Amino acid sequence: MDNMQFWKTMDAAREWAAEGAQQLGRAAAGAAETVRANLSAGAHLPYGAYRASADFLREKLGDFSPEVLMILGSGLGFLGDEAEDPIFVDYADIPYFKHSTAPGHKGRFVFGHLAGKRVAVMQGRLHTYEGYTMEEAAYAVGVARLLGADRMIVTNAAGAIREDLAPGDIMMIRDHIKLFAGSPLTGPNVAELGPRFPDMTRAYDPEFCAVARACAAELGLPLQEGVYMFFPGPQFETPAEIRAARILGADAAGMSTVPEVIAAAHCGMRTLGFTLCANMAAGILDQPLSEQEVLDAAEAAREPFSALVRACLAKI
Ligand code: HPA
Repeated sequence: MDNMQFWKTMDAAREWAAEGAQQLGRAAAGAAETVRANLSAGAHLPYGAYRASADFLREKLGDFSPEVLMILGSGLGFLGDEAEDPIFVDYADIPYFKHSTAPGHKGRFVFGHLAGKRVAVMQGRLHTYEGYTMEEAAYAVGVARLLGADRMIVTNAAGAIREDLAPGDIMMIRDHIKLFAGSPLTGPNVAELGPRFPDMTRAYDPEFCAVARACAAELGLPLQEGVYMFFPGPQFETPAEIRAARILGADAAGMSTVPEVIAAAHCGMRTLGFTLCANMAAGILDQPLSEQEVLDAAEAAREPFSALVRACLAKI
């Protein structure tokens, strides 16, 4: 081989190697995409996903570990803005995390101190009506548990079914009804988080309920109590559905909270839940329901709701 031929051969070899490396890179990226695609196509989230999300957050948080997870509903995320020494993490940056698209939901965690507790505040939750599975909607709960949180406060806005409730009332959730909408625990049990058949009799912790009653009394705030019924939405319920819910024992109807509470019961987190009665549920008044009504009610209840949640947080 003369010199010329030698260099031509070398160039060809280099090109071939570069092309090979590119193909390998594309294959690796493709494999990662496939894992994601499989997960988003409804495969169940394995323990490794929870672990990866928690490890990513732990890296961001240094030696901060949350005690209480707070999931704040429509227009109520402002409590997160009151956290001291805040560390913000967008859901979009966390591996395996889905992000919220609902109006009034920011889609980020705020880690910090509130009412003397180390908190992880979710500013924006994921709803099944956005297209997420129950499991995806509840995913953050398992992640927060791995970060150390063993208590949870959830808030939501809902339609009042019981006729002695009124828009603007705050209702402590004593129990829930979710008859037909599946479960965040469907699929292989993530045994590292909890048992196959978790008990739901104390899903809304009775001692936390007692704390809430005492805090409301101390603040001079009227506090209602009742049963929250999960409806998948996004359409509001029909009047007939609301009549059926009343017969079943529901006091308020909403489209959230229940996936997270089931996941919390599974992984041994104690939960306190509040509903803001944003409107009378469908068919109770002779008027249509609107999303704006819900956001306006949340805004109007900002002060008392914030005071009650902070007071409870200090004592749980
Ligand atoms: N139904 C369901 N979800 C709601 C309602 C309602 O009337 N109001 C606020 N969230």
